[in-house]
Amino acid sequence: MNILILGKGGREHALGWKLLQSVRKPHLFFLPGNAGTLSVGVNLEGDYNKFNDVKRTVVENSINLVVVGPEEPIAMGVADFLEDMGVRVIAPRKNVAFLEASKIKAKKFMKKHSIPTADFVTFDNYQRAKAYIEKVEKFPVVIKADGLCGGKGVVIARDKKEAEDTLRAFMVDGRFGEASRRVVIEEYLEGYEFSVFVYIEGERYAVLGDAIDYKKAYDGDKGPNTGGMGSVAPAVFLNPGMREKVRKDIIDRTIEGLIKDGLYYEGFLYFGLIWTEKGPYVLEYNVRMGDPETQVVVMIDSRDWLEFFNGNQLDKKWPCYSRVCVEVVLVSSGYPLKYEKGYIIEGLNRVEGVNIFHAGTTLKEGRIITNGGRVLNVVGCGKELKEAREKVYKEVRKIRFKNIFYRKDIGDIQRWKGIL
Ligand code: AMP
Ligand code: GLY
Repeated sequence: MNILILGKGGREHALGWKLLQSVRKPHLFFLPGNAGTLSVGVNLEGDYNKFNDVKRTVVENSINLVVVGPEEPIAMGVADFLEDMGVRVIAPRKNVAFLEASKIKAKKFMKKHSIPTADFVTFDNYQRAKAYIEKVEKFPVVIKADGLCGGKGVVIARDKKEAEDTLRAFMVDGRFGEASRRVVIEEYLEGYEFSVFVYIEGERYAVLGDAIDYKKAYDGDKGPNTGGMGSVAPAVFLNPGMREKVRKDIIDRTIEGLIKDGLYYEGFLYFGLIWTEKGPYVLEYNVRMGDPETQVVVMIDSRDWLEFFNGNQLDKKWPCYSRVCVEVVLVSSGYPLKYEKGYIIEGLNRVEGVNIFHAGTTLKEGRIITNGGRVLNVVGCGKELKEAREKVYKEVRKIRFKNIFYRKDIGDIQRWKGIL
């Protein structure tokens, strides 16, 4: 069986690593992959956002199954395109991509199907949005651009001025072009954030796992938002009762809602959640796996994911965990803003007892060099959080490249002191 994975990040390397362990012994191809994916498969040249490249790759390599990593090709309809070619694809179709690609449509979907989410209003007119903010008494409020903004389209406005500035930047100045001309303004929720990953095939599903993402650049959750600086799985503060509530109130209602609306969903669904005083709420949906969360989720789950893709073992149960995994993302200093690349990475061969999933790396004259903001994802596991954390940081210190930077507080128990 030949599997093509679209993408070039740590998520795609981790998916490949997971699928390679299947009893079905697949051959893996990546479009375009990175230096790490070379250890699990073949890298192919091309752009996954160009469907002609995808088509050529599929045909030339007799691909039977395509697994899509990032959201852009999904929102552009790569699943429909491949299905029309008669190729099996693990990605939702274009008509359900709105769950991620339009915050307004996703919020309306949640409201319609009684899925707990922050109270909200939507605007496509700047003057009306501004008039609404004039009357707001309680801050912060959360302002979200409607469309895909590469994770930068959400602002937590602390006061009226920040809210107005944001609305102007989004709706008048068009900071994200068409994507920010319309907005959601919603209630600010306080609680503990976590993510849940599910593989769905119509009304059947498998819960792949839960995890915690560290979105901010610096220790103590300071600095700008990033794609993710680290992750922990499972979400250590959840107990079986809490997971059951997420399943009933959020996963089941979402899947029932899709069916009621006549929408067929097949592929991964990522629930960005927050546990508040009143229980779990949905912050966002993503129609794909998370990066860097996938890298830890594949390591806490011992099941064969290729079985799920073949419609087997979709038992809706939460998996049992026997260990905890901690992941530290090594980045080029300056990420997510300005950073340099092209530096040699050393020490990888001295690392032991952890997994390394590559992100922004490439091979040049036989050496692995940095090729992006997020460079490497190092994952260590243990029976307890403390053990996993110590293990991963001990190994991280062996890796060197110019301008290396990483957070030192991933998996620090202090973060959950109010709930653990
Ligand atoms: P989203 O892309 O909608 O998940 O938002 C990005 C980040 O903004 C989330 O991970 C949260 O940290 C924060 N956020 C979004 N919505 C809210 C909300 N209603 N209350 C508090 N924080 C939020
Ligand atoms: N880690 C956040 C995301 O994948 O969107």
